[in-house]
Amino acid sequence: MHEQAYPRSAEKEITLLKRKLNKSQYFRKRLEKTYDKHQTLLEMTTAELRETFQKFKEAQMQLIQSEKISVLGQMMAGIAHEMNTPIGVISTAIKSSQSKFEALSASFLKLFQSLSPELLSLFQQASQTLLAVCSRKQLSKRRENAAILEKKLQEIGVADGRQWGKAFANVGLTVENLDVLKPFATSPDALQLLYALTEMSCTFQDIDYASNAIVKLSSAIRQYTHSDPNRIAETDLKKELEGMLILFHHVTKGNIEIYQDLDPLPVIYAYTDQLNQLWTNLINNAVSALKGNGHIWIRLKNFDTDHIMVEVIDDGPGIPPDILPKIFEPYVTSKEKGEGTGLGLSISRDIVARHKGTLECESSPGRTLFRIILPKKI
Ligand SMILES: Nc1ncnc2c1ncn2[C@@H]1O[C@H](COP(=O)(O)OP(=O)(O)OP(=O)(O)O)[C@@H](O)[C@H]1O
Ligand SMILES: [Mg+2]
Repeated sequence: MHEQAYPRSAEKEITLLKRKLNKSQYFRKRLEKTYDKHQTLLEMTTAELRETFQKFKEAQMQLIQSEKISVLGQMMAGIAHEMNTPIGVISTAIKSSQSKFEALSASFLKLFQSLSPELLSLFQQASQTLLAVCSRKQLSKRRENAAILEKKLQEIGVADGRQWGKAFANVGLTVENLDVLKPFATSPDALQLLYALTEMSCTFQDIDYASNAIVKLSSAIRQYTHSDPNRIAETDLKKELEGMLILFHHVTKGNIEIYQDLDPLPVIYAYTDQLNQLWTNLINNAVSALKGNGHIWIRLKNFDTDHIMVEVIDDGPGIPPDILPKIFEPYVTSKEKGEGTGLGLSISRDIVARHKGTLECESSPGRTLFRIILPKKI
C-alpha cells in the first residue's frame, strides 16, 4: 500500500511541478515581453531626452549668441567712433606728408648745393640725432618746453628763437637735443629743413600709433566674435579681459574710469567665448548703473591652487533692494522696456555653472561687487 501510495503522490507532485513550471515559463515569457517592451520604451525615452537636451543646449547657445550680438550692437556705435579718430589721423597725415615731401625734396637740393662738405656732414649728424629723439609723446608740456627752448636757441645764436622754440617743442625736442643746431644757427633754410624732417618723422609716428589703435580694436572685435562657444580652450584671462576692455574704451571717455588690476596667470581651460560674454554682461551692467559717472574696477587674481578669481566692482547706486534677491532669475530688470531684457545675469549664472564655478554678488549704495571663482580646469 505504501508502495502504491508513494508513486501516486509522486505523480501528483510531478504534475503539480509541471504545472508550476508551465506557469513559471508563461510568466517568464510575459516578463521577458514586458522587459523588452520597457527596454524599447526606455531606449526611446532616452533618445527623446537626449534630443530635447540637445535642443535645449542649442536654444541656450542661441540665447547667448543673441545676447552677445545685442551687446555688440550696443557697442558698435562706440567702436565705430573709436575707429574714426585713428582713421582720420592716418588720412590727414598721409595727405599732408605728400605735399610736405614735395617741398622737402626741392629744399634739399637747394641747401645741399649751398653747404660746404664739412657743414653737410654736420647736417647729416644733426638730422640723425633729431630723428632719433623727436616724438609727440611730451606734447602736454609743449608750452613750458617752448619757452625753455626759446632761451636756449637764443643762447646758441638763433635769431628768431621764439618761432623756432615753438616749432621744435611741437615735435617733442628738449633742451638737451639742441646743441646739434648750433652750426646752423644763422641759416634759416637749414633750420627749416631740419624741422621739416623731424616733423615728417613725427607724422610717421602718428600713422604708426593710429594704425596700431585700429589693429588693436579689430583684433579685440575678432577675439570677441571668433571662437566657438562650445569649445573648451586654453584661455589667457588677462589677455581676454584686456581685449574686452579695449572694446569698452569708448565708455571711459565720459566720466567713467575703468581700473584694471589683472595678474598675469597661467592659462586656464574654459569656454573662452562664454567667459567673454560673462565679463561683458557684468561690465555692461556696471556701466549702465553708473549713468556716465563713476569708477569700475576689474580684478583678476589667483584664488587658490585650483581656482582663479575675477571681481567686477563699481561705485554706482547699487542694485535696487527689491530686485537684489532675484537678480539671477531671467527677465528680472529695473531697466526701461527696450533698454534691457533682464537676461544678462541669468545667462552669466548659467555660464559660471557650466564652468562649475561660483558667482556672488554684494551690493549697497556706492559699491556693487560681482565675484566669480572658476576652476583652472573644467
Ligand atoms: N552693477 C550693478 N549696479 C546696479 N544694479 C545692477 C548692477 N548689475 C545688475 N544690476 C541690476 O540687476 C538687473 C538685472 O541685470 P541683468 O544684467 O540680468 O539684466 P539687465 O541689465 O536689466 O538687461 P540685459 O543685461 O539683458 O540687457 C538690472 O536691471 C539692474 O537693476
Ligand atoms: Mg545686463
